[in-house]
Amino acid sequence: MKTFYITTAIDYVNGSPHLGHAYEKVLTDVIARFRRLMGDRVYFLTGVDEHGQKVQQSARKRGIAPQQFVDEISQEFRALCARLDISNDDFIRTTEPRHKQVVQDILQRLYDQGEIYKDEYKGFYSTRQEQFLQEKDRNPDGSWPELFGEVTEITESNYFFRLQKYQDWLIDFLKRNENFVFPRYRQKQVLEFLSEPLNDLCISRPRERLEWGITLPFDEAFVTYVWFDALLNYYSAVADKPGIWPATFHVIGKDILVPPHAVYWPIMLKAAGIEPPQSLLAHGWWSINGAKMSKSTGNFVDPIEFAGKYGVDALRYFMIREMSVGQDSDFSLAQFLARYNGELANNLGNLVNRTLNMTNRFAGGVVPAAEVDEAPEQNLRALWEKTRDEVIPLCEGFQFHIALERTLAFVTATNAYIEQRAPWKLGKSAEAADQALLRTSLATMAEALRLGSALLTAVMPGTVAKIQGVLGHTPAPVWADELRWGSTLTGAKVAATAILFPRPAETKA
Ligand code: MSP
Repeated sequence: MKTFYITTAIDYVNGSPHLGHAYEKVLTDVIARFRRLMGDRVYFLTGVDEHGQKVQQSARKRGIAPQQFVDEISQEFRALCARLDISNDDFIRTTEPRHKQVVQDILQRLYDQGEIYKDEYKGFYSTRQEQFLQEKDRNPDGSWPELFGEVTEITESNYFFRLQKYQDWLIDFLKRNENFVFPRYRQKQVLEFLSEPLNDLCISRPRERLEWGITLPFDEAFVTYVWFDALLNYYSAVADKPGIWPATFHVIGKDILVPPHAVYWPIMLKAAGIEPPQSLLAHGWWSINGAKMSKSTGNFVDPIEFAGKYGVDALRYFMIREMSVGQDSDFSLAQFLARYNGELANNLGNLVNRTLNMTNRFAGGVVPAAEVDEAPEQNLRALWEKTRDEVIPLCEGFQFHIALERTLAFVTATNAYIEQRAPWKLGKSAEAADQALLRTSLATMAEALRLGSALLTAVMPGTVAKIQGVLGHTPAPVWADELRWGSTLTGAKVAATAILFPRPAETKA
C-alpha cells in the first residue's frame, strides 16, 4: 500500500503563529485523520522554515543570535501543534543537520550535472530592505518608494538553477496530470504563469549580505536561497524512510502556489531525478472581521489563546465548518459564537445531555435494547445511511464544510426524533407498549449519537472520545464497522453528565 504522505507548508519563524498557520495545520490534520480512519497508512509532516533574511533581521532586532531566536520561536509552533491536537508524525526544522545534509547533497548533484551555473546578476538593490527590487516596485513616476531608502544598481555574482530548460516539461506534466492542483481552477493559474518564458532561478545569496542560510557545498562564499532550502524539507524529512516519497498532498496557502510549489518544486525534483509529488492542495486565506490579519493593528487571533477560551475542538470545528477548502473566509467572533451556540452547544451538546439524562432517569443509566421498529426509527436510520454515504465521498473530495453540515443535520434530526417520541411522556405510562417504546427511544438516541459523533472523529477527536467515554463505548478498530447502525451500545453504562461545550462568557446573562 502506498503511504498517504501529507505535509503542511513550513512556517516562517520570524513571528508567532497566528490563525492562518493554525488553519493549515488543522485542515491537514483533518485530512490525515480521515485517511487513517479510511484505512490508509498515513505519514504526516509539518515543521518550520528557519533560514533567510527575515529571520536574520528579527533575531538582530531582538539582539540575539539567529539560532537562539529560532530555537525559541520554533517551540511556539511545536506547542501550537500539541495544543491543536495535530497528529503529525514528524516536525522538521530546516536548521537540523538531517535537512541541511540533504539540501547540500542535492545542490551538489545538480551542480555536478550542470543544472546550476554561476552568472552575474544585475539589478536595483535596496540596502535598507536588503533586497533586489523589480520594475513593478517603482512609484508611478519612476522613483523608488520611501521604504526602500537608497536604491543602487549593483552587479553581483550568483548561482542560477536552470528553470527555463524544464518549462516545456512542466507544461506537459500539468496537462497530463489534470488533478495536480486542487482546486482544479488553480491549475489554470499555473499554466497561465507558464505561458510567459521562465527566468532561471537565482538560488544563492552572497554570505556578506546574508549569513543565515545553508552554505552552498561548492562555494562557501554563498548560502542557499531560502525557498530552495525550504521546499526540500518535504523530501529531506523522509529521504531515509523507504516507501513514503512521493508526497500524496502538499497542503499550502494559495499565496505560495505559484511559483514556488507549482513551478520551482516539481522542476527541482525533475532535475534531481526524484519523482514529483502527486498533488498540491491550495487553501484560501482567513481575514479577521473583514480585514487582513495584522499584528500591528491588533486585528489578530492568537489560536492558542482562543483554544484556551473556547476549547480546541470548537476552534477546529469552526475553521473546518466555515471555510470551503480553496476559498477565502472571514473569522468573526459573532459568527464563531453563532455556530458554537447553535450547532455545538444547543444541538450536539444538547443531544449528549438528553441522552445521558434520560438514560439515567428512565433506565438506571444502562442503554436498553430497541424493541420497536416504526416509522420514526426507520426514518432516522434511513437518514443515517444517507448521511454516512454522502459524508464519506464529501470528505474524500475535501468538502469538509458540507460534510459537517450534513452530519449536524443528522444530529438535528435525532433531536427531532426525541421530540417526536417524547420519552418523558412515555416514562409516565405503565403500559407495556409505552415502556417498550421508551426503551426503543433511549436505544435509538444513544445509537444515533454514537454514529453521528463517529462522523466527527477527524474534526473533533477529543470531543468524540469524550462522547464515546460517556456512552461507555469502545470504538471498533475499523471505522467502517463503527459506522453501521446496530446494537453495540445495548447494556452500556452511561455517565451521569457531560459538559462538552460550556456557555462562553460572552453569552452568559
Ligand atoms: N515559509 C514559507 C513556506 C515554505 S513551504 C516549503 C511560508 N511561511 S508562512 O509562515 O508565511 O506561511 C505558512 C503557511 O501559512 C502558508 O501556506 C500560508 O499560505 C499560510 N497562511 C499564512 N497566513 C494565512 C492566512 N491569513 N490564512 C490562511 N493561511 C495563511 O510561506
